[in-house]
Amino acid sequence: MQTVNLILLTLHNLTRWLVLIFALLVLIRAFSGWFGKKTYQDQDRRFLMMYTSVFDLQVLFGIILFFTKGWGGVMINGGSEVMSNSALRFFAVEHWVLMLLAVIVAHIGSSQAKKVGESLKKYRRTAIWISLSIILVLAAIPWPGMAAGRPLLRLFGIDF
Ligand code: HEM
Repeated sequence: MQTVNLILLTLHNLTRWLVLIFALLVLIRAFSGWFGKKTYQDQDRRFLMMYTSVFDLQVLFGIILFFTKGWGGVMINGGSEVMSNSALRFFAVEHWVLMLLAVIVAHIGSSQAKKVGESLKKYRRTAIWISLSIILVLAAIPWPGMAAGRPLLRLFGIDF
């Protein structure tokens, strides 16, 4: 199980950067399209789809890790001790609740942008919903220095 966890944790760590890179690409194009009054392109749609797809994959890795690393048990059996310990509370509750909320917001934004035909509305809806989604993601990442902090980069046992 330790090897499986190490592989999953490495994938979960690296996919985090893909989520952030695609969010940045989507947001740069959405805001410049919105304020520059540009015409919505296929590439905008593709980047938005890549953002929601890598996000879904990341959620899948996270859900598996939640159980293989024993956080499910901590959440169910930990009682009040979990809620008073910020390092435990982060992974037992905060991380997954905020990330699930963020992925739902990302999918709502994607379908809201798809629903309208006008470029300006597509860009505006994308910019607003994806900004909201990425704010939640940034707030829920275990950045180094936090009580539950984790490395910025993890490569199968080598941490940076
Ligand atoms: C429902 C969704 C998610 C669940 C259930 C989940 C669960 C987990 C779990 C169990 C861990 C391991 C904690 C430990 O070290 O014991 C973890 C670590 C982590 N999660 Fe998530 N996660 C989710 C979504 C996300 C998303 C969307 C991101 C970023 C875009 C993310 C970023 C991270 C990072 C950076 C780590 C640290 C990885 C490392 O130790 O190298 N997670 N997550």
